[in-house]
Amino acid sequence: MDADLDQVDFFSDASLNEDPYPYFEHLRAKCPVTPLAHHGVLAVSGYDEATEVYRDLETFSSCNSVVGPFATFPVPLVGDDVADIIERYRGQLPMNEHMVTMDPPTHTQERALLMRLITPKRLKENEAFMWRLADQQLDEFIADGRCEFIGAYAQPFAMLVVADVLGVPEAEHERFRRGFGLSGNPGEIGSDQSDMAMNALGWLDECFTTYIEDRRREPQGDVLTDLALAKYPDGSTPEVTAVVRSATFLFAAGQETTARLLATSLKYLAEYPQLQDELREEPELIPNFIEEALRIESPVKADFRLAKRAATIGGVDIAPGTPVMLLNGAANRDPGRFECPAEFRLDRPNAREHIAFGRGAHSCPGGPLARAEARISLERILDRTRDITLSEEHHGPVGARHFSYEPTWVLRGLHDIHIEWTPADGVG
Ligand code: HEM
Repeated sequence: MDADLDQVDFFSDASLNEDPYPYFEHLRAKCPVTPLAHHGVLAVSGYDEATEVYRDLETFSSCNSVVGPFATFPVPLVGDDVADIIERYRGQLPMNEHMVTMDPPTHTQERALLMRLITPKRLKENEAFMWRLADQQLDEFIADGRCEFIGAYAQPFAMLVVADVLGVPEAEHERFRRGFGLSGNPGEIGSDQSDMAMNALGWLDECFTTYIEDRRREPQGDVLTDLALAKYPDGSTPEVTAVVRSATFLFAAGQETTARLLATSLKYLAEYPQLQDELREEPELIPNFIEEALRIESPVKADFRLAKRAATIGGVDIAPGTPVMLLNGAANRDPGRFECPAEFRLDRPNAREHIAFGRGAHSCPGGPLARAEARISLERILDRTRDITLSEEHHGPVGARHFSYEPTWVLRGLHDIHIEWTPADGVG
């Protein structure tokens, strides 16, 4: 056992960004539920143990789900039951206004509101949009035979899909791209761009507040009107700010995560050309490829819960007030659940059992969307290219590849990925 790994600070050690998996293995080998040397955190790296915590709403609060041990309280979390302290101070915690940090009954209410927006009908219409969008975006650079894939495709694609789900009219999509600094026309930098750089979420908030207020005043029979008029399950009308928050949070939750999934997918395809051949021949294998990509490189690295009461998980006692870190990427490589977990297997029969989207009441409502985004993108990319490879100029030759990853403990994902290909367009 590598004692040095015990001293690693998960929250600040940059070496974990490049490859967190030996560390995850180390933790699981010690115990699937094990205390860390820093911040009083208990790390869960086992699959069964993580799913048990995810499902136990009675014992575990989501109030710290995004910022983990940095959700600090003005008083110590002492006593047999710290639920009352959490309730008293949760309004002071970061991200408290977003559903991902809420607990029942507030969470149940906010989630129901969101699910009224992401209806099966909306998702079907959105899928039709995705097919068009994929080709439009590929048109921008496919003839070049090379690109940095995250900036050229993954980020603008993931952003515009969320914009479309929410009913942002297509005529405004270029404004959104500029607003997010993701324009296909770098020369076209408008004032929206600098506004966005100044205050990303503030910019979106303003856009959506205007949309919702306009539609409440003058319903127009469009998706934004459905959004504006959606009610809570008890029939009451949410404040404009609550609707805007739900809407803008989707950009935060759905963009970077999905962009990283797309990037991982391209990395595997470019590195293993036989995977390209197999998927071009049998596109019906693409969904399992995506599940395997989610399993092997789970975009959400760490998710948190706070123990309200004493509990025992995997035989380990957990004291009230303990921040519990759920390592999805570790659980998804638990050999107790997945055979030879470090291998990418296109035909892995249980790939879909991964917990990259979490589990239970907070499990990702954007899962179907992310899956459709990846499926459609990969189908179109594979159809319009031949011989996708990694750029040796940027990532080095086979056997000595190097990649840079996002410098964060929250997400697992490539910072950039440079690929090259032969355009298939026009090839008979
Ligand atoms: C590959 C892409 C994605 C991954 C890996 C992912 C992962 C996750 C995970 C692990 C959670 C659970 C958080 C928790 O239990 O504390 C979550 C929640 C959430 N995700 Fe995703 N997500 C992805 C894409 C999306 C998309 C595309 C959307 C919407 C446009 C979205 C919207 C949300 C929302 C609103 C929540 C909070 C749900 C709740 O608290 O009830 N996500 N996501």
